[in-house]
Amino acid sequence: MNKTRWIMLLAALIVLLAGGGWYINGRMEAQEEAASSGEVLIGGPFRLTNQNGESVTEQNFQGKFMLVYFGYTFCPDVCPTELQIMTSALGELGTDASNVVPIFVTVDPEHDTVAVMADYVKHFSPRLVGLTGTAEQIAAAAKAYRVFYQKVTDDSATGGYSMDHSSIIYLMGPDGRFIEHFGPGTTPEQMAAGIRKYL
Ligand code: NI
Repeated sequence: MNKTRWIMLLAALIVLLAGGGWYINGRMEAQEEAASSGEVLIGGPFRLTNQNGESVTEQNFQGKFMLVYFGYTFCPDVCPTELQIMTSALGELGTDASNVVPIFVTVDPEHDTVAVMADYVKHFSPRLVGLTGTAEQIAAAAKAYRVFYQKVTDDSATGGYSMDHSSIIYLMGPDGRFIEHFGPGTTPEQMAAGIRKYL
């Protein structure tokens, strides 16, 4: 990271932290928060567009568990790794996972159009739902899920930029409420076991 990028990131973090409820680099003290507030306020209403071009809201997933991850399609390693772990975990669960919908939400809607998302998600699983939207819709969804993201200049990346973003997988219940989160380093086996508890 160069100096300008550091300063920009720091400034952004200060603003976000001042706004409350935002987390640095995907690190989230969910349990601490649960202990202090009695309930973790993650998730909520969203309106986005799936990889088939259909408008969807949280209502479309009512009665199903959602496994939600935010990232972007040309992320070099973190996003593909996490999506692979997500889909492997569901594979481990087999038919028990039929009520769990894996969802990938882009934080780069400008690049990740419906067509780009459709092409991307199919590489992981035919079950993976890819959601994009307007910049405002994505910002609202990310805020609800407490996901931090920021476009940063990156000369080594295709397009000259990359997206810094939180990397957390959220398990949401059939009522849409947050149940559990899985951080970086969670194996498919651990994730499958973590999900199985609630099925
Ligand atoms: Ni990524």
